[in-house]
Amino acid sequence: MKKITASITGVAGYIPDYILSNKELEKMVDTTDEWILSRTGISERRILKGEGQGTSVMCIEAVNRLLDKKKISPLDIDLIIVATVTPDYEFPSTSNIVCDKVGAKNAWGYDLSAACSGFLFALTTGAQFIETGRCKKVIIVGGDKMSSIIDYTDRSTCIIFGDGAGAVLLEPDPEELGIQDFILKTDGAGIKHLYMKAGGSAYPSCRETVDKREHFVYQEGQAVFKSAVKGMADVSAELLEKNKLTGADIQWLVAHQANKRIIEATAERIQLAPEKVLMNIQRYGNTTAGTIPLLMWDYEQKFKKGDNIVISAFGGGFTWGAIYLKWAYNSQNK
Ligand code: UT7
Repeated sequence: MKKITASITGVAGYIPDYILSNKELEKMVDTTDEWILSRTGISERRILKGEGQGTSVMCIEAVNRLLDKKKISPLDIDLIIVATVTPDYEFPSTSNIVCDKVGAKNAWGYDLSAACSGFLFALTTGAQFIETGRCKKVIIVGGDKMSSIIDYTDRSTCIIFGDGAGAVLLEPDPEELGIQDFILKTDGAGIKHLYMKAGGSAYPSCRETVDKREHFVYQEGQAVFKSAVKGMADVSAELLEKNKLTGADIQWLVAHQANKRIIEATAERIQLAPEKVLMNIQRYGNTTAGTIPLLMWDYEQKFKKGDNIVISAFGGGFTWGAIYLKWAYNSQNK
């Protein structure tokens, strides 16, 4: 029997209008544009403003743009998975809200929590439903409103994060293009370096947790940085080796945008020429689950049918991994 592979057949994104520049951050915390740019590669990031505006607002817009672009009815969608660590509510899932608001009446869905690796984990999970033949059209959304959990008095953390969402359509591929292989990893011992201390069932929200500012991202930057460099580089190299590929066989590295230096270290490890390394970190910062689909959205025109792409991410938890896929279409024709 012919193998069914899952291909990305369309991509769209949404970034909020408000631009939080390094210059504006200089007025909020003790930092400089020069420090942020040289240490991270970030110039500005987007912030979703307005009362009651949760992550779903951006995810819905991204999905609607994707449906418009692909000219397909929301009724044809079987499943929507939303990767996020900033769901609108503790429950129900943000996916429930997205399915409802985009009119995906025949779809079911759920949220997936894997921090900055969320999109990577959701993409491989969604692909399983295509590969088994269970679903024909699956939408994977990665989106986070990081500004809702960022402490804008913590200069080493607030400078890297921003808000945004991206969405891709997964469909069965007649030519066996699409997702070829992946390696995903988790290490719960990493929790102490990057997490939100309160608000879950271990430490439910109360006056004390609010007073202690425990509803914000807690990040030990250097420890995360070291693990991210090693994790992303090692797993990308392992995936290439497993598939008997070298950097010369790869056209594009689509890496999680957390820090320019982490991305460059990964590219160097798999011996990828700089022009194959895609970046938009300068404009959006780290949008957590949003970075990878937003990067694909920005660079879609460059991708050609059959291009070998490595997607790689590292995030809180710790979670990390890499996907090897063959791009399924010439973007100018879509
Ligand atoms: O998305 C997935 C998970 N997250 C990541 O992958 C993030 C990984 N970590 C990083 O990207 C970097 O660690 C940061 C960008 C967060 C911080 O950069 P760093 O080069 O690791 O800085 P550091 O924390 O080691 O601090 C170096 C110095 C310190 O000063 P002293 O102690 O040497 O005097 C900090 O206080 O830089 C200082 N510093 C700053 N100075 C100006 C920290 N943040 C700032 C700032 N502006 N915003």
